[in-house]
Amino acid sequence: MTRSHTPPSTPSAPSTPSAPSARTAPAPDVLVVGGGLIGLVTAWRAAQRGLRTTVVDPAPGGGAAHVAAGMLAAVTELQYGEQTLLDLNLASAQRYPAFVAELEDLTGLDTGYRRCGTLAVALDADDRAHLRDLHAFQTSLGLESHWLGGRDCRRLEPLLAPGVRGGLRVDGDHQVDPRRLAAALLRAAERTGVAFVRATASRIDTAAGRATGVVLDDGTVLAAGRTVLAAGSESGRIGGLPPELLPPVRPVKGQILRLRIPAGHAPFLSRTVRAVVRGSHVYLVPRENGELVLGATSEEFGWDTTVTAGGVYELLRDAHELVPGITELPLTEMLAGLRPGSPDNAPLLGATAVDGLLLATGHHRNGVLLTPVTGDAMAEVLTSADGGLPPYARAFGAQRFAPARQEQPA
Ligand code: GLY
Repeated sequence: MTRSHTPPSTPSAPSTPSAPSARTAPAPDVLVVGGGLIGLVTAWRAAQRGLRTTVVDPAPGGGAAHVAAGMLAAVTELQYGEQTLLDLNLASAQRYPAFVAELEDLTGLDTGYRRCGTLAVALDADDRAHLRDLHAFQTSLGLESHWLGGRDCRRLEPLLAPGVRGGLRVDGDHQVDPRRLAAALLRAAERTGVAFVRATASRIDTAAGRATGVVLDDGTVLAAGRTVLAAGSESGRIGGLPPELLPPVRPVKGQILRLRIPAGHAPFLSRTVRAVVRGSHVYLVPRENGELVLGATSEEFGWDTTVTAGGVYELLRDAHELVPGITELPLTEMLAGLRPGSPDNAPLLGATAVDGLLLATGHHRNGVLLTPVTGDAMAEVLTSADGGLPPYARAFGAQRFAPARQEQPA
């Protein structure tokens, strides 16, 4: 077993008193708080490297993965000013084929990975100008993206609205089914020896300024060598840490719908189709099993996960402008989830200012895409001699938003 060096404790670390331990089993090397995609991949990769690993989550495999559409949209979701994140997104997209092959071999489960590409279209002159700019930006960065006129867009996807003015064909932006991916990761983690505690961690436990595990909501203490907080948006409000040491992660609500293409129905869409309508992203992700995922709103209203009439109305209205035929499809699910938004929309990975506490959270719109690279980066952190991030992830250190320390006078 390899153990990483842990950085020295800091004077600002918390000193919450420990609750009495109710467990006598030896403490794991790594305790991962959160059994979503990021927590599961971290645990799986850690266990593969020989670390005794436990995940604590009341319902592993759920969370945002249960809601997300699963677009692997490094190129079509490119934003100005996010070129560093683009590199990480591309590194993860590149890992996907081998990642799902490894998972599927180990578990016998299908992850729903589909190399279908994406078509991002414009519905009016403003959208067209925006997509033209995006295309110029993408090509300036050497990304593969092809401009198509409206007629060529409809040739690719005949059910698109006649008014589509043009679009970008991005052949490298694929999809995976996050629910299936989570199920495969859960089984892979179990097969690799990861233990699961199906309960809620209410706070990080600390002693002498060091994270020593977690306390469950029933008061049980789970001790661990190191604790990885990978609880999505919940990471930003876990107990036991003073406000200045809580991860700067906020909930960004996304409402999403699932429709079903009836068996025997003519092919609907052959690839992911998306647009920005009146400033909001709308996308349609067709799965091979006949599911059509229609997402997603982006709302900053705290911890609310209500599906609202307004959210559903906007999604259907915008998607109907894009592909009018959707209104004939059965609507099978309406859900809302919370993305873990960070101040720069990029993940927070690795060591924190609290000795023994690491983060793997803040993935915002890219959690599914970034799952493979996050697993690799966290495995490196947990097993390298210095506990540092590998070069490809170094820009995403968990402490990059920590308030600057005051220099003490000599
Ligand atoms: N990446 C898609 C979304 O967050 O809605």
